[in-house]
Amino acid sequence: MQDTKELLAEHHNNGEDFIRLMRETADNRFNDAFWITWEQWITPILGDSPKIADFGSGPGILLDLLDKHYPQAELTGVEYATYMLDTLDQKHYQIIEHDLHLPNLSILNNSLDVVTTIFCLHELTQPITLLRSVYRCLKPGGRCFIIDWVRNPLSRYIAEEVRDKDVFEPELKQDVLNNVFNHFIEHNRYTREDVTWLLEKLGFKILEDIPLKEGKFGQWIVEK
Ligand SMILES: C[S@@+](CC[C@H](N)C(=O)[O-])C[C@H]1O[C@@H](n2cnc3c(N)ncnc32)[C@H](O)[C@@H]1O
Repeated sequence: MQDTKELLAEHHNNGEDFIRLMRETADNRFNDAFWITWEQWITPILGDSPKIADFGSGPGILLDLLDKHYPQAELTGVEYATYMLDTLDQKHYQIIEHDLHLPNLSILNNSLDVVTTIFCLHELTQPITLLRSVYRCLKPGGRCFIIDWVRNPLSRYIAEEVRDKDVFEPELKQDVLNNVFNHFIEHNRYTREDVTWLLEKLGFKILEDIPLKEGKFGQWIVEK
């Protein structure tokens, strides 16, 4: 299996540019609809000092927002890309450097109220170990909030995600073309039904399972 740090560096192309992209697009991910969902499904299970972990936290955008919303919360970010780890603010939350392909994540069984994992699953070679870790770490009744890419036709992907290059241009460089198609595969790993099936097989109760952006992404709220 390819080393995960190499895999991530390849997927993110350039770490600094990717962090900038994550920050520039944060308002699209953590928008009003996200917080309405949060209010509906997550707020009702939170006590005074909730324990929340963000798996694949990137540069900590969600952790920073949660820190403002819940100054009493115990927040943990789990990350493995070195350039992401370097940006994370260890004063406000605990950071665990861990490859989520592996099972030995150092969070206690039945200890978390909430796990969030936003646009992370598609970056892993297989999603089962991460989802098992979520299940193991959540308290009974704890909830997980997942958003990720789901499978779409190639024509839609090219039209919406590759606007700055013409993939049919004969002069287009080979490595650029390869990069587009590698990303297509990574962003199109699972259908929404695939993710729902995995979640059910791993023992989660599905509370919400909806498409976002006309089916480009899926959103799930699940309970242990
Ligand atoms: C697309 S970014 C999203 C970041 C953040 N959740 C957000 O929405 O702002 C996915 C993140 O998951 C992390 N990630 C991917 N695979 C991982 C793995 N195997 N172990 C730990 N983190 C991983 C990446 O390094 C990256 O920071």
